[in-house]
Amino acid sequence: MENPKFTFFFVFLSTLLFVLFAEVKAQQGKDEPYVGVNIGTDASDLLPAADLVAFLQSQKISHVRLYDVDAEILKALANTKIRVIVSVPNNQLLAIGSSNATAATWIGRNVAAYYPETLITGVAVGDEIFTTVPSSTPLLMPAIESLYSALVASNLHTQIKISTPNSASIILDPFPPSQAYFNQSLSPVITQLLQFLSRTQSPLMMNLYPYYVFMQNKGVVPLENSLFKPVTPSKEMVDPNTLLHYTNVFDAMLDSVYFSMKNLNVTDVVVLVSESGWPSRGDSKEPYATIDNADMYNSNLIKHVIDRSGTPLHPEITSSVYIYELFNEDLRSPPESEANWGLFYANSTPVYLLHVSGSGTFLANDTTNQTYCIATDGLDVKTLQTALDWTCGPGRANCSEIQPGQSCYQPNSVKNHASYAFDSYYQKEGKSPGSCDFQGAAMITTTDPSHGNCIFPGSKMISNKTSQVVNSTQASGGNGVRLTAFQFKILHLIWGLTSCLFHYSFLS
Ligand SMILES: *[C@@H]1O[C@H](CO)[C@@H](O)[C@H](O)[C@H]1NC(C)=O
Ligand SMILES: *[C@@H]1O[C@H](CO)[C@@H](O)[C@H](O)[C@H]1NC(C)=O
Ligand SMILES: *[C@@H]1O[C@H](CO)[C@@H](O)[C@H](O)[C@H]1NC(C)=O
Ligand SMILES: *[C@@H]1O[C@H](CO)[C@@H](O)[C@H](O)[C@H]1NC(C)=O
Ligand SMILES: *[C@@H]1O[C@H](CO)[C@@H](O)[C@H](O)[C@H]1NC(C)=O
Ligand SMILES: *[C@@H]1O[C@H](CO)[C@@H](O)[C@H](O)[C@H]1NC(C)=O
Ligand SMILES: *[C@@H]1O[C@H](CO)[C@@H](O)[C@H](O)[C@H]1NC(C)=O
Ligand SMILES: *[C@@H]1O[C@H](CO)[C@@H](O)[C@H](O)[C@H]1NC(C)=O
Repeated sequence: MENPKFTFFFVFLSTLLFVLFAEVKAQQGKDEPYVGVNIGTDASDLLPAADLVAFLQSQKISHVRLYDVDAEILKALANTKIRVIVSVPNNQLLAIGSSNATAATWIGRNVAAYYPETLITGVAVGDEIFTTVPSSTPLLMPAIESLYSALVASNLHTQIKISTPNSASIILDPFPPSQAYFNQSLSPVITQLLQFLSRTQSPLMMNLYPYYVFMQNKGVVPLENSLFKPVTPSKEMVDPNTLLHYTNVFDAMLDSVYFSMKNLNVTDVVVLVSESGWPSRGDSKEPYATIDNADMYNSNLIKHVIDRSGTPLHPEITSSVYIYELFNEDLRSPPESEANWGLFYANSTPVYLLHVSGSGTFLANDTTNQTYCIATDGLDVKTLQTALDWTCGPGRANCSEIQPGQSCYQPNSVKNHASYAFDSYYQKEGKSPGSCDFQGAAMITTTDPSHGNCIFPGSKMISNKTSQVVNSTQASGGNGVRLTAFQFKILHLIWGLTSCLFHYSFLS
């Protein structure tokens, strides 16, 4: 163990820097990370291809991955700006891996025939080969190499990247991330794969599901961390070897991939998350597959990518993510969650409304374009109160309506008052990026939080100030101790410091 004083000082310093500069996070970088969607088609009432493409455009979806090569969809995507990853299904690996000619024909028919009218940008060769069809493992690299040769022959290899999506289970001991490594039985082929990806500057595709990590380790991995909810310092996962703090499972999974690559001396391959998501419905054994959890996970995941948060190990790299998945696939076999990973039903009705309006227009079905800022669920009162005090004090939000006797005083809870104050601040700041954060205590919603006579700032509702006898004298909320902005930051700093005293022993 290093000198603990030094370590604490270091954490102190980085926390200080983080707190002071989080708001002015640099927005530059060459490759803008993006959020795409996987389109599975095991559904009974799928949209016709042309309608599907119109729907993608209306939802501002710019990147999609198909599980095969659907001629109708590829044709319909022509002359749009939507970028597509096409896939070689697992059952075609044998033919392609054993003949260069077959690979060349495949590229000619399924890629070259559509490009560049249809912006095919990637070919995913098989899906989770190492874990779902291990007998095909020896075919993978030959197939990849043959397909690559065919792309080179068509001079498409710089625009179109080849890779293969992997299950997270090829990584053993993923927590803490610094101890992760690729399953050694697979090392020879994974080494070859990584060399190929490095040589062709292609990403390593990983299917990462905090949902399964949570389900398989209940009681050890907290739900909050799995859903990207703001967590108290005692629930942060601290990697004892690196002292990196993990507030969410997704980043820990990503870093476990980076550490595994580093173990094989590969440091120049980036991870592309080819699948991630959360089911919105399940059977009695899947109680966490709920609309609220799915909405929370996917909304936060999108925010995480668009905010370019990076990971604790690689803050400078934000992986792009394809959400699994766009549509519910009602024809999939049980368990029930299998048919309920979609953001939309197959006919394009939303399963739930994502809370992502602050992140541009992507996937935001908000017909009025109005957004509000409210307190995040599940936070402790102290955190909320501190944020509330700052907002109504130095933040100069208009908090008059949450004073005793006013319309938004009831229900008299810190959370309710904080929501009002956050929204007041957010609207006052013109909903500018970063004005709904409060160190993670707040989130953007498209649902008008107004209730009864309490009309939130930004709402188009009109108060019908009729009844509601105003009641109560007990105070709390808006008139607590007021802190200056600097004191507020110092408080967070102290929490950051406290957290390193709570080395959360994760899965060990
Ligand atoms: C495919 O082509 C590569 C070079 O382009 C060659 O090394 C390989 O032997 C060929 N494979 C087969 C099965 O013909
Ligand atoms: C590692 O991979 C081998 C070969 O696919 C497999 O048999 C084995 O179960 C894997 N080990 C673990 C711990 O998953
Ligand atoms: C990685 O590099 C180190 C130092 O050069 C070397 O000792 C080690 O054997 C390498 N590991 C692999 C898997 O190539
Ligand atoms: C958006 O929401 C409205 C009302 O909530 C609904 O009628 C409409 O179908 C939704 N549109 C899309 C494209 O999801
Ligand atoms: C919402 O915003 C979009 C694009 O910014 C615009 O085209 C649309 O007219 C707006 N809708 C309303 C109801 O203001
Ligand atoms: C604060 O809000 C109240 C109620 O919405 C309003 O009457 C008052 O004028 C506002 N005060 C300021 C300073 O804007
Ligand atoms: C008006 O008052 C009624 C009765 O208190 C309430 O149910 C309703 O939500 C209020 N409408 C608005 C827009 O606040
Ligand atoms: C007034 O407040 C008291 C205590 O908070 C509560 O028991 C009572 O029901 C309230 N009365 C009204 C009219 O809201």
